[in-house]
Amino acid sequence: MANSIQAIVFISLIFLLTKSSNAKIEVNKFNVLKFGAKADGKKDSSKAFLDSWNVACGSTNPGIISVPQGRYLIKSLRFEGPCKNNAISFQIDGTLVAPSNFKSLQEFWIDFHKVDGVTILGGKLDAQGTALWACKATQDKDCPSGATTLGFSSSNDIEILGLTSLNSQMFHIVINGCKKVKLQSVKVLAPGNSPNTDGIHVQLSSDVKILNSKISTGDDCVSIGPGTTNLWIENVACGPGHGISIGSLGKDFEEAGVQNVTVKTITIRNTQNGLRIKSWGRPSTGFVRGVIFQGVKMFNVQNPIIIDQNYCPNNENCPGKVSGVAISDVVYQDIQGTSATEVAMKFDCSKSKPCKGIRLENVKLTYKKKPALASCANARGTTSGLIQPSSCF
Ligand SMILES: *[C@@H]1O[C@H](CO)[C@@H](O)[C@H](O)[C@H]1NC(C)=O
Repeated sequence: MANSIQAIVFISLIFLLTKSSNAKIEVNKFNVLKFGAKADGKKDSSKAFLDSWNVACGSTNPGIISVPQGRYLIKSLRFEGPCKNNAISFQIDGTLVAPSNFKSLQEFWIDFHKVDGVTILGGKLDAQGTALWACKATQDKDCPSGATTLGFSSSNDIEILGLTSLNSQMFHIVINGCKKVKLQSVKVLAPGNSPNTDGIHVQLSSDVKILNSKISTGDDCVSIGPGTTNLWIENVACGPGHGISIGSLGKDFEEAGVQNVTVKTITIRNTQNGLRIKSWGRPSTGFVRGVIFQGVKMFNVQNPIIIDQNYCPNNENCPGKVSGVAISDVVYQDIQGTSATEVAMKFDCSKSKPCKGIRLENVKLTYKKKPALASCANARGTTSGLIQPSSCF
């Protein structure tokens, strides 16, 4: 008995050694054209994309799925794991185009679920959202809410590099329930008046990085939902849109908090908000803890710095209108630029859970070349360096 176990261990060891000394991991390559995709923007290429994914995902070798130049008509697609390997990359030189009939998309246009080690390199996603926005503008109740362009859920070790998202119907990119996600050199483009077209939304996820990106859209540049921890945003240009927003939080009573968020070297232009933290005026277990905004330049921003804990659209379902979300340890460091309204800094915090540990260091915001104003409710904090408008703590 002992001998046979020893023999098995010995044989496995030899096997491992020969494997590693050969050190040649085979990489499978798949071209979507070989799976029947057509780069003419007319023929539905959904099946070809899905078939190539299924083969890549079913192999124990890493895989590269290549999408050559051209336009590919793609319907709602779900790339589902777990896969037999954890290294699949899409190399996209072409443009994926959504069907012109906006009603044909589901909740997501392109959706990755339970995948590990997926990389998207390059590519344009053109969701053709214009017709849906026009429908929404007519207040027609039959308009669908629209699809998120690209979603990752319950996935780890994801990298998105050099992707462009155009005219999303709804949110452009959603990261939900993921660990270790890096978005780099991403471009998001939609008109400033396109409804609900948030650039990148993160929730229930940790260790997400958003770097060197440019986001011009109709809603939040980056929106940070409940359960986001260890988020790093650096070198991002926002505008038009609604700026960088933590929230809305506290819609549900039981809610995971937001913790350890760094927002660094940011330019915000012609937006509704600059740096916002927003929670519903409702009871909640949620919190925001440990946020640093550092090195932010604002140009013509309506609410450059804002904490709003009284969010309650139509004044419905906000018993007592007091937010349970506890906000603490939020640093604003080296924030400069112009406000489009007189109140450049507004801390409207919860009566039951006042904001604590707000810190302002070197903040200079002006309105029409005059000093702007600050307003505070239930906010406690400290300042250092030049603070303009002078703080209201
Ligand atoms: C905060 O998040 C960053 C990544 O964004 C990470 O490097 C750092 O270790 C985290 N800090 C703590 C205390 O977890």
